[in-house]
Amino acid sequence: MSTASAVRRYRDEPVDDETLDKCLRAASWAPSGANQQPWRFVVLRSSDARAAVTAAARRTWQELKRFYGLTEPVGHADDAKSRVLRAMEEHTRVGGFAPCLVLFCVQPQRGASELQQGGSIFPAVQNFLLAARAEGLGAAITLWHDSCEDELRRLVGIPDDWLIAALVTAGWPKGRHKAVRRKPLELVAVVDRWNQPWSCGLDNS
Ligand SMILES: Cc1cc2nc3c(=O)[nH]c(=O)nc-3n(C[C@H](O)[C@H](O)[C@H](O)COP(=O)(O)O)c2cc1C
Repeated sequence: MSTASAVRRYRDEPVDDETLDKCLRAASWAPSGANQQPWRFVVLRSSDARAAVTAAARRTWQELKRFYGLTEPVGHADDAKSRVLRAMEEHTRVGGFAPCLVLFCVQPQRGASELQQGGSIFPAVQNFLLAARAEGLGAAITLWHDSCEDELRRLVGIPDDWLIAALVTAGWPKGRHKAVRRKPLELVAVVDRWNQPWSCGLDNS
């Protein structure tokens, strides 16, 4: 888990069905409210769907760059920001696209809040990501489906009462899996009181 960071650059090599099957199976082992498993994982292989996603990814990235005033990464600068910018460029470039695209869909359950609906699909997404990491694949969650949702619904035949929660990209990574960078545990785990940090007295750094 500590090296299951988002991977956005993939080698130009297909992912075999056996490996993908392991990741999908792991997704299907996730918990969900009342064990309803209100999900469907759609492997996108058709050229129409892949083209729609690629165009949507590009659009979303251009909008994000404008919104945040992001500039193109300069040369081969190796700071974290430049690396992410370069990876995002490659991730969203037409033709350089991920070998695997999987849509995670959820059918809202009666009376469930939006948060609860998400709780019955994102554990499956995370299981997929962790299984992918265990297999040596790299993967990333994206929300790119947001800007091609109508087209994807039509191409896949997603029923109107289902939601698309995430679009995961995966493939054999270019380069190494990187350690995740997260807030120290002491800032996010507490005991009994909101501001009383968790500490087990061990040095796990
Ligand atoms: C709900 C959600 C939406 C995300 N959407 C995108 C996205 O649209 N594009 C993308 O490249 N990464 C996306 N990510 C990946 C996050 O940017 C990434 O997990 C986070 O920055 C932490 O980086 P790390 O996984 O490399 O440690 C998303 C993650 C989550 C949980």
